[in-house]
Amino acid sequence: MMKKNILTGIKPTGTPHIGNYFGAIKPALDMMSKGDANYFLFVADYHAYTSVKDPLLFQQYVHEIAATWLACGLDPEKVTFYAQVDIPELFELNWILACNTPKGDLNRAHAYKALVQENIDQGNKDPDHGVNVGLYTYPILMAADILLFDSHFVPVGKDQIQHVEIARSIASRINNTYKKEIFVEPKEIIQEEVASVLGLDGRKMSKSYQNTIPLFLEEKKLQKLINRITTDSSGPTEPKDPDKSIIFSYYKLFASKVEAETFRKRLISGISWGEAKTVLFMAMNEKLKGPREIYFSLMNDKGKVDKLLKEGAKKARAIAKENMEKFRKNLIGY
Ligand code: TRP
Repeated sequence: MMKKNILTGIKPTGTPHIGNYFGAIKPALDMMSKGDANYFLFVADYHAYTSVKDPLLFQQYVHEIAATWLACGLDPEKVTFYAQVDIPELFELNWILACNTPKGDLNRAHAYKALVQENIDQGNKDPDHGVNVGLYTYPILMAADILLFDSHFVPVGKDQIQHVEIARSIASRINNTYKKEIFVEPKEIIQEEVASVLGLDGRKMSKSYQNTIPLFLEEKKLQKLINRITTDSSGPTEPKDPDKSIIFSYYKLFASKVEAETFRKRLISGISWGEAKTVLFMAMNEKLKGPREIYFSLMNDKGKVDKLLKEGAKKARAIAKENMEKFRKNLIGY
């Protein structure tokens, strides 16, 4: 049996935090370690370009995200790992797909609709205020990302399901128009939220709430951040409810089941919040220090990250070129 292709993209728009790790990075790496498919993982840098217009910041985000995945264990030998910007065929396919997409489909895209709604709510005269065309056609570039590599499966979070549906409907529309199976019709794999990680303020951890714990913080800074977690005013020997404690919720992510049980009991029997924070810091630091070292060494040697991405792009482009030639032949005759 031919191996299936599994592809996913990561948009570099901020420093990765532990919510990203447990929600997306770890599950994807676990899946990719199985090795029963061809895996493609790429940095969707041009998708970030809809909003990031500062070249230095842009580069920083790309390096951070690439170094993060590598530090967390992505093996570039086993996964084709590249950046969108290095695959020019994507932008040719982007045009072809645009010419096969009803404008109405983009009007109905959730992300665009949310922005329009925001404008309406704010009493803006122009419902498209602040919407650039790149943002509007974002789903088409994403469809190009997916279709160029004959992707059978696309692991994504719930917020991206509609985008994969759009890619699938473009593929099937073209296949119908040409009465030929030119594009693979991709399916999403939904990453069930194993653990929805809480932010420091108790809401969902999210960059937009500014309540994140960055995945790779220097040891001292991590300790400081943990020490700043707000706790109730219960005294040092009073019992604490583990299930109402963010400290415990983080601890569970980084510790074994047995360790978590022990900590639970200690909280119930009553330890000071200060001590609880120390226990948490030690557990997190223990798990993070290895990858953190790799991360900082890569961030200090960006040439190495760039080189790995270029090598990945070479592999990806060989496929992209061949597929694009096939698509071109089928669609426009040469
Ligand atoms: N839009 C995705 C996100 O914001 C990133 C992305 C771009 C992507 N192209 C993709 C994901 C192709 C899967 C497949 O998370």
